[in-house]
Amino acid sequence: MRSYGVSFFGLGYVGLTMAACFASKGFKVIGYDVDEGKVRSLREKRAPIFEPGVEGLITDAGDLLQATDDPAEAVSASDFIFITTGTPSRSDGSIDTSYVRSAAKAIGEMMKGSDRYRVIVVKSTVVPGTTAGPIRAELEAASGLVAGKGFGLVMNPEFLKEGHAVDDMFKPDRLVVGEVDPRSGDSIVRLYDEFYDRHPPPAIRTTLENAELIKYANNSFLAIKIGFANSMARVCQTIPGGDVDVVMKGIGLDSRIGPDFLRAGVAWGGSCFPKDLRAIRAFAAERGVKLRLVDASLETNEEGPLEVVSACEKAIGGLKGKAVAILGLAFKPDTDDTRESPAIRMGLEFMRKGANVRAFDPVVRLAPPGFTISEGPLSCIEGTDLAVLATEWKALREIRPEAFVKMMRNAVVMDTRRAYDRSSFAAAGVRLLQLGRG
Ligand code: UDX
Repeated sequence: MRSYGVSFFGLGYVGLTMAACFASKGFKVIGYDVDEGKVRSLREKRAPIFEPGVEGLITDAGDLLQATDDPAEAVSASDFIFITTGTPSRSDGSIDTSYVRSAAKAIGEMMKGSDRYRVIVVKSTVVPGTTAGPIRAELEAASGLVAGKGFGLVMNPEFLKEGHAVDDMFKPDRLVVGEVDPRSGDSIVRLYDEFYDRHPPPAIRTTLENAELIKYANNSFLAIKIGFANSMARVCQTIPGGDVDVVMKGIGLDSRIGPDFLRAGVAWGGSCFPKDLRAIRAFAAERGVKLRLVDASLETNEEGPLEVVSACEKAIGGLKGKAVAILGLAFKPDTDDTRESPAIRMGLEFMRKGANVRAFDPVVRLAPPGFTISEGPLSCIEGTDLAVLATEWKALREIRPEAFVKMMRNAVVMDTRRAYDRSSFAAAGVRLLQLGRG
């Protein structure tokens, strides 16, 4: 048994993954959520989200991982209380802090009158000034205690990729710790020292505001890096023999660039990049700073799916009345998350241009109105005029060229991730279009 009790307010893919990881390392963990469905599934040792490895950790954790919808239970047993609620975008792109503020209020109320020192850890992605401002205010007003005295307060952003969150939790590149006072920072460093069995990753200790901004700067830079690869892919398509993977491999060997996040595709999606870039743009604009690179990255990303659909339209001589198969719906493989998925955005554009769209995804079973969901990849492409490999799940990358020829009315395939082998597809008689290849 470890020295500390830990609780997580908010059981999304960050809170749930962290709760499962901490419990698997022997910490006493309580997961709290207002959503009874999530609490119930966790009580039944089932993961309420699709995140590889989490369900196994939940089972291994046994009684060390409890779930509750009672904030008092979650606070009383804990030395560290992580706020892992969502911070969705508002219509103007700025973040909605209502969930983090209500979590802080609930936590504060449960600490009222207590003389036990606890550390509140803001994990949610919040713009600079949110932790020291509204979150601290809610905690102090509800508890009657003072941050840095009656309780500790840190801002500790997460860098977990969906589909890889367990791995990223056990092997992070660094810890970022924004602290209201040294004691708060020392406390969370001690917790992570135990979690990482005395081999914690390098930690940056700074102000609450710098820690909040590091998260936005990190995601913005990653999105800009991917967007650059996506733009170079469009250039490669205009050059005979052009190959964006070769070009990106070439620049990725430059130690100042690095190879990661240069895999060109239609666009980036997910619940974080779009939200975070819009939020930091709105935050900067309020301070009279125009983030043109972020603007351009968002704009390029909006155009991506439309450009690919236009290229397909040209390739098959029009979309009206045609049958189009979208292979993959999740925003990327190994997740069930379809938020801002390029696959969905392309499907909607195909429909807008008059095509009938069907889709298959190994995990995602729900799609917006208009999509016909197929039971398998082959039934999805059967009788279609175009198939689009939109999300490069392993099962979809393995579809044989003969299957496209046999099942489709016209074997035209748009491969947005250069997953299919050009020569074997040509030999089988498939007209293969590949994003990023000339
Ligand atoms: C991201 C950040 O990586 C993570 O650190 C942060 O905590 C949350 O946001 P996530 O959105 O889950 O994680 O997935 P990620 O793997 O970063 O992919 C984001 C998008 O970029 C996906 O649409 C993915 O397909 C795309 N992508 C990623 C590329 O197109 N090319 C790449 O090389 C990498």
